[in-house]
Amino acid sequence: MLENTLVLLKPDAVKRSISGEIIARFERRGLTVAAMKLMKVSREQAKKHYDEHREKPFFGELVDFITSSPVVAMVIRGENAVKMVRSMMGATNPLDSAPGTIRGDYATEMSKNVIHGSDSPASAEREMNIFFTKDEIF
Ligand code: CMP
Repeated sequence: MLENTLVLLKPDAVKRSISGEIIARFERRGLTVAAMKLMKVSREQAKKHYDEHREKPFFGELVDFITSSPVVAMVIRGENAVKMVRSMMGATNPLDSAPGTIRGDYATEMSKNVIHGSDSPASAEREMNIFFTKDEIF
């Protein structure tokens, strides 16, 4: 099924100038970029985005980090894009992410784990609306 998914290249990825390499991986795989912008996430957007983690002890840290410096926000489109992007990202904890995955190749820390991708089509719909207006998605 043709799907859209929300991807954030987190502040650590932008600072390390590895955004292009990561975007190239998605394009090489056959996925397409349907929306993209370099942006500073507001605290309001961050809290909405991470709403499911509101009660977690690391919630404050999550919000602080994602708002600390610009991210690349993207909508990635393709067949089963939600699952495809998640499998290309690798496990959340870089200790568990296999080499060859994005986190397995670029990340060492759980909090600075380079990339976020929606975990379901419903999350994708919700998260795209936080970062993009309808007319920004092509
Ligand atoms: P992300 O996919 O952006 O969604 C939630 C984020 O929480 C996750 O990536 C990790 O960066 C972060 N995270 C998950 N578990 C922990 C944890 N135990 N400590 C700190 N950060 C965490």
